Amino acid sequence: TKHFLGLKGVSADEIISILDRAAYWEQSPAKVTNQFNGKFVSNLFFENSTRTRFSFELAQKRLGADVLNFSAAESSVQKGESIYDTVRTLESMGIDAGVIRLKPNGVLQELAEKIKIPLINAGDGNNEHPTQALLDFYTMRKQFGAIKGLTVSIVGDILHSRVARSNLWGLLALGAKVQFCAPASMQAPELAEFAPYVSFDEALKADVIMMLRVQLERHDTGLLRSAEEYREQYGLTVERASRMAPHAIIMHPAPVNRNVELDDELVEHEKSKIFTQIAHGVPIRMAVIERALS
Ligand code: CP
Repeated sequence: TKHFLGLKGVSADEIISILDRAAYWEQSPAKVTNQFNGKFVSNLFFENSTRTRFSFELAQKRLGADVLNFSAAESSVQKGESIYDTVRTLESMGIDAGVIRLKPNGVLQELAEKIKIPLINAGDGNNEHPTQALLDFYTMRKQFGAIKGLTVSIVGDILHSRVARSNLWGLLALGAKVQFCAPASMQAPELAEFAPYVSFDEALKADVIMMLRVQLERHDTGLLRSAEEYREQYGLTVERASRMAPHAIIMHPAPVNRNVELDDELVEHEKSKIFTQIAHGVPIRMAVIERALS
C-alpha cells in the first residue's frame, strides 16, 4: 500500500520528484482534469484544520476525484466510535484513499498496519506533517533555486511541532543545515543530536527564519507567563526582522498568533512567504494524491 506517513527515511530524490511534479501542476493551465474521475478520496479530520483540509479538497477536485469530507465533530465518533473503526468503515464502503489528521501520537502508524487503502498524513500528533514540509521545501526552492546548502532556523514551539519534525527530516535529506531556537520548556531534547539549539541572534543569520505557532491548546499549564513575555524573548518582532540578511525570508505554517510569535506587520511583509506557502499547498497535495492513487 502506498501510504504517505512522513518524511523520516525518505530520500532526497523522492522528495525532489514530488516537488517537480508539484511544479508541473502549479504551471498546468487546466484548473480541473479528469485524471481520477471515478476515484473516491475521503478527508478524515479528527482535529481541526483550515489550510490542510481545503487545499487537499482543492487538490482532489482539480484531479477530478470525488471527495468525501468527514469531520469527527459531526460523526459517530461522538457516540464513542474509535478512529480505527471509523477508518475501517469508510474503507469497507469503497473509498480509494484517505487523507487523515489525528491528535494522538502512534495511532496513524497502527492504522497503516491494518488499513489497505493508501493513507496520507495530514498532521499526526506532534510526529509529522509531511505535506506541510513539502510545501515549505517547494517555497524555499522557488525562492533560492536549491535547498542544498541553505541554513534554516526553526524558532518556537519545537516540542509540540510536527511541522518542525517533518522539516527537519526532509531538510537534512536535501542537504540543508537546520538549527532550532526555543525556550527550554518548548525544546525537544530527542532532536538535539540532529539540529543544534542556538540563540535568537544566531538564528537571525539564517537564509530562512521559520516561525512556529505557539500551540496553546497543547500546553498543559504555566509554560507561558504571558504573550508579551513570549514576544519579547522568542517573537520575531519588526526590530529583529530588520537584522535579517537582505536575501533572507520569513516562513510560518499558519495559523499565526499575531503579535505573539510574529509581529502583525510581518505577516504580509515583503520578506514573508506565508501566503505563498499556503498557495503552494494545492500543487504539492495534487502531487501527493496522484502518487497515492496511481
Ligand atoms: N498549516 C496547517 O496545517 O494549517 P491548518 O491546521 O489550518 O491545516
